[in-house]
Formats: sequence, structure tokens, C-alpha cells
Amino acid sequence: MANDFLPVTTKFIYYFTGPLPFDVYIQLADDKYTKIYHKNSEHDPNQIYRYENKDLKILYVSNEEKNLFGSFLCELIDQFNTGKGTIDKAKMIDIMKTSLELTYEKIISENDELETNMQWATHQVKGALHLLEDDISSAIEVFKALAGDIQLLKHSYMVSLFSLVLAKKLGINNPKNLMNIGLGALLHDVGHTRVNKELFTKQNLTPKEWEEIKDHPQIGLKIVDFTKGISSDIRSIIMQHHEQYNGRGYPNRLNNSLIFPPAKIVAIADGFCSLLSKASYGDTQYSADQAIKMMKDDIGHYDPEFLNTFEMIIIGDKKKSARK
Ligand SMILES: [Fe+2]
Ligand SMILES: [Fe+2]
Repeated sequence: MANDFLPVTTKFIYYFTGPLPFDVYIQLADDKYTKIYHKNSEHDPNQIYRYENKDLKILYVSNEEKNLFGSFLCELIDQFNTGKGTIDKAKMIDIMKTSLELTYEKIISENDELETNMQWATHQVKGALHLLEDDISSAIEVFKALAGDIQLLKHSYMVSLFSLVLAKKLGINNPKNLMNIGLGALLHDVGHTRVNKELFTKQNLTPKEWEEIKDHPQIGLKIVDFTKGISSDIRSIIMQHHEQYNGRGYPNRLNNSLIFPPAKIVAIADGFCSLLSKASYGDTQYSADQAIKMMKDDIGHYDPEFLNTFEMIIIGDKKKSARK
């Protein structure tokens, strides 16, 4: 029964004025839920205050209405993007986190709804672009907010944010191109969802296990193969994010001139986010400075010009915040 309901924080009800497009429940006992709001009817914020005073901070939405809830979150993201409503940056990070969790849960558990997932992901990337404006401080706030989340979700969104920052700094301003980079980055490791999870944290992989991991770009491509809204740019990013400037990457050992430039951007954001995260390197977690240094020392892996620009963003921003 518990699996039939999706927990949501009471905060979400405050974020929205007007009737909610889904029913809302409270949990009375382990397997007992009761409806407190009927969809499309006005809700009374005072009632929420009364629940909160009773220390009831989690409400529930039926799993059957998960899609309605997801679309509702997209609507909130749109409100933030267009400056309508009362969604500020802090609320937005909260909404984005929930929306991403929902999208990723669907990507992992279902195969047939990628089109809805893509529509949601598009809203998330639009939200990311709006959140980022021209600096990366929001990216760091999102990083903190996602701290407790599953690794793949956090990694994918962080790679998307850093890819967008780098793309903008490299002078890419066309909204369609930025959207493709953001979405490609969000989905770059979607193939991981079909690879044995234990391999990603295992030390000393056998050659066969390593080959299995190295299949994730092709697996990712297969997952998105028949999905509307997946442009060829997104496909190339998924397929090429582990190719290297010196031609030693995988799966096709493409060298510099053959690698799609947005895939080089995502490769840098990917390398950086992996070094920053504990899970990828056993217990070792590197600082931003160490990560950049290691990437620069790995001569030939990344596009050197792009990497220099990325260094300027990361180190430059740190200097700025140190002066504050
Ligand atoms: Fe990857
Ligand atoms: Fe990755």
C-alpha cells in the first residue's frame, strides 16, 4: 500500500495558489491513507498550518496521479522561468529537486514513457538555465540540495548545470543549442540504468566488467532510440561523452576533429563532477582545484581550449566568492 503513494512535503501546497490538479492524502497508519484535498477544488492554506502544527510535514499523492504531479511541478518551474507567481530561487531549487527525482525514478523504472520524461526534462533544463543566469553559485546550491539523492540523479543534473555554464562561457547562446547540451548532459549516462549498479562502486574491475561499463553510451542510445524530442545532437552527446581529444576514448576512439563539440563540453563537466563526487573514486573526494589540476595533468584527454575556459570559470568564481 505504501508503494501506492508518493510522499510530498507540505511546502508544495504553499507554492501554488489555486486548485491543485491532483488529490492529496495524509497517512493515518502504516497502510491507511485518507484524502484531505479533492483535485480541482480550492485548498485552505490554514488547514496546512494546522497539520504542520501537529508535526505533520509529509502529505501524499497517489502513484496513479504521479504524472499529474510531475506536470504540476513543470508548471511551477515555468512560473519561475517567466517570473509569474511567487516562486523564488530557494523554492525553485526545492521544486527542481523533486521534479528531477520523479523524472529519474521514471527513467529507471519504465521504458515506455520517455516522451513524458523528455517533456519534463526540457522544463528542468529551462529551469536550470534560468537558475544559472551568469554565474555558478546556484549550481553549488543545487549541488548541496541534491546531497542526499541517488548518485546518478545528482551526477546527471550537476553535469547538465556545469555543461551549460561552460557552453555559455564558450559563446554558445542559441537557446536550441543550449537546450540540446543541457538535455544531452542530463541524459548522458542514462545507459547506466541498464548496467549492473554494483560495478560503479566496485574496486578492481575485471576486464569483462570494465567492458560492461564501457557499453553504457550505446545502451543509452538504444534507450532513447525511438523517443520523440531526442535530437541528433542529444544522441551524439550520449554516444560521445567518453571519447577523448587524443583518440583514446570509447566507444569509437574518435579523435578531436571527429568529436561533436558539445560532447567535448559534456565530457569536461562529466570528468569534473566525477572527481568531485566520492562515489566514483572509492572514498576519495577531490576539491574543485584538485579536480581541475588532475584534468589538466591528464594531457590529451580533454579539449585543452575548452578546459582552460572551464578552469577560468571554476577558479575565477572561487576568487570572486573569496573576495565577498
Ligand atoms: Fe558516462
Ligand atoms: Fe557521467
